[in-house]
Amino acid sequence: MKIRALGAAAGGGFPQWNCNAPLSRAARTQQPGFLPRTQSSIAASSNGRSWAVFNASPDIRQQIAQTPELQPAADGPLRSTPIRAVVLTNADVDHIAGLLTLREKEPFTLYATRRVLDTLSANSIFNVLDPAFVERRELPLEGITELEGPEGPIGLTVESFLVPGKVALFLENTNETGFGTKDGDTVGLAIRVSGAEASAGRTLFYVPGCAAVEADLKSRISGGGCLMFDGTVFEDDEMARTGVGSKTGARMGHISMNGPSGSLSALADVELKRRVYIHINNTNPVLDPASREARIVAEAGWEVAHDGMELEL
Ligand code: MLT
Ligand code: MN
Repeated sequence: MKIRALGAAAGGGFPQWNCNAPLSRAARTQQPGFLPRTQSSIAASSNGRSWAVFNASPDIRQQIAQTPELQPAADGPLRSTPIRAVVLTNADVDHIAGLLTLREKEPFTLYATRRVLDTLSANSIFNVLDPAFVERRELPLEGITELEGPEGPIGLTVESFLVPGKVALFLENTNETGFGTKDGDTVGLAIRVSGAEASAGRTLFYVPGCAAVEADLKSRISGGGCLMFDGTVFEDDEMARTGVGSKTGARMGHISMNGPSGSLSALADVELKRRVYIHINNTNPVLDPASREARIVAEAGWEVAHDGMELEL
């Protein structure tokens, strides 16, 4: 299985359009080591020809332009794409806005939980994805789905599972517990080549949004596969520390890397081939490869994803 990180940053990207904090400024002025990153998405393929895109970022047009494998084949029809399926892990803006770019009557299959599909149905702008071309299919809250494009199976399965998270920011209801968060608002995915469901070592666990590491997540991912995990913030209060905002990672539905219940310590004893942080916010100091935090993460065996990063399983 081939995997490409299309966009390694969280919502806003790196640099964020309006951010003048030191990290975004360093990326904007192309300081050595500060790799600009587009917003949260990956792609996977079992054969290098048919691809599934996981989360449709607002930057998907640029991501396709940067990724020859996702472009129309030179000898293909006048309108075509190797993208046969799009799978969503939640309804956050950074994961659904790119659907608007994928209009133009191009057939593919769109997968998401009932909660996320209902959000798309409730926003009529997503009708630009003509239902005659784009079939919407429901992902279970727990279970394996064989991914199909318009012509049939593409050789990949996804196992969806619930992870602690939060309803999309634009759907928050402050009068409800957890701002109205319900099961199905956030899922993690185990992505595999079809037929390899029993092979833990050949599994990519893709969990770009996660509020806490619980025992069942640990036992699920343990066993030697690769993990791409929520790397939004290093410290829970880093937005306030940086002076760019007051929201904590927890308030945004994202676990921090550091701290007693952070992902560095919570996942330290889990057996994995590779562990990669993705969905990295522009306030996260690991984006500076010379930082103390980047060293801490590297010494704990983690990689920090960048756009174009390749994994092979
Ligand atoms: C998040 O991951 O918390 C969201 O993408 C934030 C947002 O809506 O920008
Ligand atoms: Mn996000």
